Amino acid sequence: MPVYSISHVENVRVCVVMVGLPARGKSLIAQKIVRYLSWLSINSKCFNVGSYRRQIVSDTQVTAELFDPSNEEGMKYRQEAVNAATVDMMKWFLEENGVVGILDATNSTRERRDRILKLCRENLIEPMFLESFCSDQDLILQNILDVKTTSPDYANRDNDFATNDFLQRIKYYEEVYETMDENTDSDLTFIKLINVNSQIILNRIESYLESRIVYYVMNLHIKPRSIWLSRHGESEFNLTGQIGGDANLSERGWRYAKKLPELVLKSLGEENKHTNLTVWTSTLKRTQQTASFLPYKKKLQWKALDELDAGECDGMTYEQIEQEFPEDFKARDDDKYEYRYKGGESYRDIVIRLEPIIMELERQENILIITHQAVLRCLYAYFMNVPQEESPWMSIPLHTLIKLEPRAYLTLVSRIKADIPAVSTYKEKGTSQLGELMNGDSISKSRDLIKDSEGRVILENK
Ligand SMILES: *[C@@H]1O[C@H](CO)[C@@H](O)[C@H](O)[C@H]1NC(C)=O
Ligand SMILES: *[C@@H]1O[C@H](CO)[C@@H](O)[C@H](O)[C@H]1NC(C)=O
Ligand SMILES: *[C@@H]1O[C@H](CO)[C@@H](O)[C@H](O)[C@H]1NC(C)=O
Ligand SMILES: *[C@@H]1O[C@H](CO)[C@@H](O)[C@H](O)[C@H]1NC(C)=O
Repeated sequence: MPVYSISHVENVRVCVVMVGLPARGKSLIAQKIVRYLSWLSINSKCFNVGSYRRQIVSDTQVTAELFDPSNEEGMKYRQEAVNAATVDMMKWFLEENGVVGILDATNSTRERRDRILKLCRENLIEPMFLESFCSDQDLILQNILDVKTTSPDYANRDNDFATNDFLQRIKYYEEVYETMDENTDSDLTFIKLINVNSQIILNRIESYLESRIVYYVMNLHIKPRSIWLSRHGESEFNLTGQIGGDANLSERGWRYAKKLPELVLKSLGEENKHTNLTVWTSTLKRTQQTASFLPYKKKLQWKALDELDAGECDGMTYEQIEQEFPEDFKARDDDKYEYRYKGGESYRDIVIRLEPIIMELERQENILIITHQAVLRCLYAYFMNVPQEESPWMSIPLHTLIKLEPRAYLTLVSRIKADIPAVSTYKEKGTSQLGELMNGDSISKSRDLIKDSEGRVILENK
């Protein structure tokens, strides 16, 4: 049963209510859940109360005093912000078929939770509380650094001011904070993460959808790490323009394989050059041949990383497909994400089979993945939050090593080209010819967007 249809089968809607003091990584967790579920085609959205509050109270007024529980005006503004966020979320559930809505707020008193609970129950939405509880001072300080450097509240403030103000804000919250409790809250559905994942308390997790969210957050870690992605070297099929098959590398493909260890070292940098990576390949020859010169001991083959199965078109060129199956050729161009080759797969099918890979990637540290164009597009779409209609058209050239560095609120991307020529295997919409057309359209599809927590583009690499 494909994952994405579960919510329709169960007809379950879940409201995830974040609970916890500031600087406990709540927004980060909320955003990751949305990215993961959206990637699986589950309609989900995060409602960040902080952004609503910023629309109500202008920047210059935002200091810790706003968060003082005895500041009546401050309380009023914050109440308005929570209300506005909650109303928008409920509208979204009802009018836009929302499946998982996340209320990313801080106010964490039992009274406030009861109100949300009531609202959810009236609308037949399952409330699930997700608390990030943190007592480890180092973790908190690290989070404070991340928040300070990324929060719009402190955009134009000096460092000392931001730190002190933020610490004061946390103090105000602490005065009224009530943590989720196994006894008092035993009738609620909740996950309590203690010091990231060193201890996890689960209470009354009921639906399948909730258990998926639980499983995902249990696998998250915050250790710094990188993920390297590469397509296999040019294959003999790429020279002839054929798709699929299990061909050997071409002479230039072998040259790339030989050069890959050097590219990886360059990307690791001098101080990390002794880091051991784990190498994942597909079960097809061309990815294993590409990995064959890498000095790392741990190499794993995953069937799930195999190229999109072109079914009856396996071994054909795009020109042959256009001639023999013109309707299919057009149908694929019209909706490449959903189109399934006769007897083969669609991009959506790949995403479903990649789910265990994503889960494992979240658990692991430094991984180098050598796989195929369609699979790489799907992996890249997960990390970079690329929408489904765009991901099948992204250009991921041969003979290029991509490094992804997931950070608190963004993923950094860098690409190193091997300077070994290869045929282009990129196919534009509406043609059977291969090759990147240098018009704006093709470029816009191959961009790297780096976004912050509010979805603003802060860096664009072309
Ligand atoms: C949270 O909201 C409740 C009422 O909704 C209020 O009594 C409490 O002071 C608020 N907490 C904080 C930290 O402002
Ligand atoms: C490159 O060749 C491999 C077969 O060796 C094939 O699976 C892949 O689809 C080719 N890429 C393109 C886009 O032609
Ligand atoms: C791939 O290479 C191996 C070893 O050189 C050779 O035995 C095999 O026939 C090749 N396969 C194809 C499909 O060319
Ligand atoms: C990497 O693996 C090699 C061989 O197994 C080992 O000698 C080396 O110490 C490892 N490096 C690190 C940084 O762990």
